[in-house]
Amino acid sequence: MTAGPGREIRRARPEDGESIGPLWASSFNLPPGWVEEFEERFRPERVLVAVEGDRVLATAQGYATAQWFGGRPLDTIGIASVATDPIARGTGIGAEVMRRLLEEARRAGNVLASLYPSTLPFYRRLGFEFGGIFTVHRVLLGDLPSARSGWGKGAAADLVAMPEDDEPIRRSFRRLAERENGLVEGLEEDWWRLRVLGRHSAEEPGGTVSTDDGEVPEGYAAYRQERLGETADWGYRVACTHLVAHSPRAALALLGFFRRFKGVGRELTWQGPPSDPMAFLLPEQTLQVARNWRFMSRILNVPAALEGRGYPEDVSGEAVFEVDDPQFPDNRGPFLLEAEGGKVRVSRTDGDGFPPIPIGSLSSMFAAYVSPAAAARAGLVDPRSPSLHLLGRLFAGPAPWTPDFF
Ligand SMILES: CC(C)(COP(=O)(O)OP(=O)(O)OC[C@H]1O[C@@H](n2cnc3c(N)ncnc32)[C@H](O)[C@@H]1OP(=O)(O)O)[C@@H](O)C(=O)NCCC(=O)NCCS
Repeated sequence: MTAGPGREIRRARPEDGESIGPLWASSFNLPPGWVEEFEERFRPERVLVAVEGDRVLATAQGYATAQWFGGRPLDTIGIASVATDPIARGTGIGAEVMRRLLEEARRAGNVLASLYPSTLPFYRRLGFEFGGIFTVHRVLLGDLPSARSGWGKGAAADLVAMPEDDEPIRRSFRRLAERENGLVEGLEEDWWRLRVLGRHSAEEPGGTVSTDDGEVPEGYAAYRQERLGETADWGYRVACTHLVAHSPRAALALLGFFRRFKGVGRELTWQGPPSDPMAFLLPEQTLQVARNWRFMSRILNVPAALEGRGYPEDVSGEAVFEVDDPQFPDNRGPFLLEAEGGKVRVSRTDGDGFPPIPIGSLSSMFAAYVSPAAAARAGLVDPRSPSLHLLGRLFAGPAPWTPDFF
């Protein structure tokens, strides 16, 4: 029993779906008809609920994912569906469910947690801080380069429509994840089908195309045609979840492919990095940001997260630091960090008397969202902490992002 008499936090059961569906529909303002779809997709084993009798008061859902930093995947719980019945909000029940979810995820071996927040104070109190940016880019189809013109980048690759076998696409995604920071890939069977490839939507035409170069396609795109409300029944957006290219000829092939949708089609959108290299393939400055959203991360296991991440090969040194983590005493240290040849070792040591680094601040620096120097300027860490210099060199890398919303 937690957070009040008669209340209990437990795994959801299939029959809880009846109350969870309407709670999520109202909490996230989901469209009419969503509840029926939900019944098919509901996976009670992922969901924690706070209940009073048979009434569901609050929920949180955890996806098993890998999140990539410095070229290596870390076991990460991707959190979504955090919702409290309006009548029970502000009583602490939402935070209680979250703390339990984090505890169970850590026990199951996850070293990180990431989520898309609708509000920050609630998650900051739980140790989360900004960990990356989700960005939707938009360009008019007529502003895309034609695959033939090349825009000085050479010939375009050939594209093929992808069959049902998604494995080559996943390998291509992992090649991207290895060179970026923050990319999240769901490890359960429905992630790619529902979230990336969009095969759950019977109404909107779309597909997946890729360069057909065997083991790891040089590029691919998963797209859907979405009706544009303002143009009644004429005109659509080509919305890509992923638009990934590992070479200029693949980028040109994909952009040229989508250019041929112009006429009835109006615009192309895709979920890419905040500073997207696709902009180099466009002849003019026509790329716009249609939407961005910061996600948050929290380190669940400090030594395991630090040892699991990849680092620049040429950074070496030692540093001592302490962490302020109200929830997990094991994360507090003090720790000795030894770095060499792209690896770090973390062991316990004696404190050095400097102020501890708040867990959220450490998480944000770890993710390469903020440099320690910028974190100090924003009041996230004490600028006197002697470990900041080494941490800054270790965590330096591409700005973190991920293409999928969850
Ligand atoms: C966010 C939510 C899950 C919090 O659940 P809860 O059970 O009320 O949380 P707690 O009682 O543990 O904590 C409440 C505190 O969270 C913070 N908080 C919650 N909602 C907030 C909001 N919209 N804006 C700012 N702060 C908010 C406040 O600090 C609040 O404290 P207060 O009541 O003293 O102001 C709940 O408000 C909710 O279901 N909202 C709608 C769905 C949603 O936005 N979910 C989050 C998706 S990422």
